[in-house]
Amino acid sequence: MTEKKDRVFSGIQPSGNLTLGNYLGAIRNWVGLQKQYESLFCVVDMHAITVSQNPDDLRHSTREVAAGLIAAGLDPKDCILFNQSQVPEHAELAWVFNCVARIGWLNRMTQFKEKAGKHKENASVGLYIYPNLMAADILLYLANKVPVGEDQKQHLELTRDIAQKFNNDFAPDFFPDVEPLIMGEATRVMSLRDGSNKMSKSDPSEYSRINLTDDADTIAKKIRKARTDSDPLPGEEAGLEGRPEAKNLVTIFAALSGRSKADILGQYEGQGFADFKKDLADVSVAHLSPITGEMNRLMQDTQYIDDVLKDGALQARTIAQPVIKRVHEIVGFLHP
Ligand code: AMP
Ligand code: TRP
Repeated sequence: MTEKKDRVFSGIQPSGNLTLGNYLGAIRNWVGLQKQYESLFCVVDMHAITVSQNPDDLRHSTREVAAGLIAAGLDPKDCILFNQSQVPEHAELAWVFNCVARIGWLNRMTQFKEKAGKHKENASVGLYIYPNLMAADILLYLANKVPVGEDQKQHLELTRDIAQKFNNDFAPDFFPDVEPLIMGEATRVMSLRDGSNKMSKSDPSEYSRINLTDDADTIAKKIRKARTDSDPLPGEEAGLEGRPEAKNLVTIFAALSGRSKADILGQYEGQGFADFKKDLADVSVAHLSPITGEMNRLMQDTQYIDDVLKDGALQARTIAQPVIKRVHEIVGFLHP
């Protein structure tokens, strides 16, 4: 029996701009993990095409997301960074998982219901089986630690169910127990226009999100226009309950400044949002503009980004190939 070691895997879709939600909920945490664990980070272009994508935009976003990850602090010397479609073993394992997962399990996935909306019959089959591909992403590397935002919890439970059923049906203990790592102050950043919706790349309103590509003026404007209520800021965290927009802005402030919410509320207690928003804009710009600058610089040299992704894919395949070979043997595929 070989000794099992911890391995980190996470993924991000190149389906538009990186948002402050991606940064606080996921990317920032990845940066800390790459030094601690063997880590793989994947730009999941195969997941992106589960909804329609313009091919040129998809290529651009794949590079831009990779640039954003490097700019935010992922170092290709410390982690394996690649795009999913360059490692065909993801699709191979996903097929096996399509035959392990049950239709009833997928029917419970809330993200499918949200994304498919009212026109379920018109959604792609890929969108429906999206969680099986996600399980394959992780388990292809026998990864056991998966740092994500809160919205991915249900998908990771499905990943655990798939691993368990495969182990029960075929090979006890083959796939590891996957543990979600939901870290930091802001595990669910909400839309700036509506505190009951998460901040998302795909929201039609630009004012709902801060993008990592936004310049200082745009960030300041979006924060100034962010929806709030008409009550003054409370002195304690409990006073934010039932005020989702205010709570979201205070959470973002805390996450970006490294200060506690209590400390921030202590400073602004009893005031309206004007000064608070001005300061939040300053904190946001100070934190994000170096990342944006570096991302723009990296995007001038797409060859470098392509080389990083290609090299990452080669490294990923050296881990993936023996695993998929074992899976094929386990399920009974004949490869003489
Ligand atoms: P996606 O953009 O859907 O590919 O998400 C990539 C990562 O960012 C996942 O770990 C998500 O959980 C995380 N994420 C996306 N949006 C948010 C948000 N609004 N708040 C916190 N985390 C988020
Ligand atoms: N479904 C994730 C999201 O939309 C992206 C993703 C794909 C992922 N594969 C993954 C996240 C594997 C973690 C692990 O955010």
